[in-house]
Amino acid sequence: MSRIEKAMERAAQIRQGAAAPPASQEQPYLRPIHTHPPPVTGTDLIVPSSPFLISMDDPYSPLSEEFRKLKTELIKLTKGATFNNTVQVTSAVPNEGKSLTALNLAISLAQEYDHTVLLIDADFRRPSIHSYLGIEQKIGFSDCLLGEAEIGEVIIPTGIGKLSVITAGRGVLNPPELFASQKTRELIADMKNRYHDRFIIFDSPPVLPFAEARTLANLVDGVLFVVKEQLASQKNVKEAISALKGCGLLGMVYNDAIVDRNDEKYTSYHRYGQIRR
Ligand SMILES: Nc1ncnc2c1ncn2[C@@H]1O[C@H](COP(=O)(O)OP(=O)(O)OP(=O)(O)O)[C@@H](O)[C@H]1O
Ligand SMILES: [Mg+2]
Repeated sequence: MSRIEKAMERAAQIRQGAAAPPASQEQPYLRPIHTHPPPVTGTDLIVPSSPFLISMDDPYSPLSEEFRKLKTELIKLTKGATFNNTVQVTSAVPNEGKSLTALNLAISLAQEYDHTVLLIDADFRRPSIHSYLGIEQKIGFSDCLLGEAEIGEVIIPTGIGKLSVITAGRGVLNPPELFASQKTRELIADMKNRYHDRFIIFDSPPVLPFAEARTLANLVDGVLFVVKEQLASQKNVKEAISALKGCGLLGMVYNDAIVDRNDEKYTSYHRYGQIRR
């Protein structure tokens, strides 16, 4: 049995309540640095519990349909002569639905047979991808930027299509400086080349309050800008867009819009649930 198989078997035993071995018998590969959730196997899939995620069981729900349209647009905009595979999701101010947009878009892409997706939680202020997916937040992207973990070590397969995620990792005191470092620039360039055939989607903090969102926008190929109805003011949106000048702005996602039920154009989207589009 390989080391990885042994580690997975041991992790499964621990999850099933088997007593942990005395510290002296613990294998080095089970020490805390490697205690992020073990690789997901066919029988141990992540089952997201958030009501805001598109349903894996109902790919034809109105919400899934909206994300399918967004996905189609994104593919058109990023797959040309070269594949512009690194995409950041941001907004002007907090709480506009960046993380849910990034996650639902990533799920929608990954459910299509030929799209492998790596979703990275690059929001070190309010990381949330792990909680939407119901996974533990241990080592992650910040640890890689700090040079304390390798990207390969922190990737978590989800079992949702071909979706893998990297959680935010440990809290850091200085996100703007960290994102502005040469190491971050090199790491993102390296990931873009190493995973050149997969989408890499970065969930990020909002642009107006946090400088690192603007820095990241200069390191990725494209930016998707989320605007939540009745949240950011027009002034906020204009300021944020002008702060992103020179970055590859791909387009805007208008989130949580109130659908006019009397408008015939929306006939097929009447059954909206908690997320309205
Ligand atoms: N379309 C929607 N319909 C209903 N509620 C929504 C919608 N989009 C977002 N929300 C609500 O807003 C909350 C925040 O969403 P999300 O975490 O995606 O925002 P965010 O922009 O990533 O926030 P932050 O700035 O803190 O990172 C969700 O938990 C949900 O309650
Ligand atoms: Mg967020």
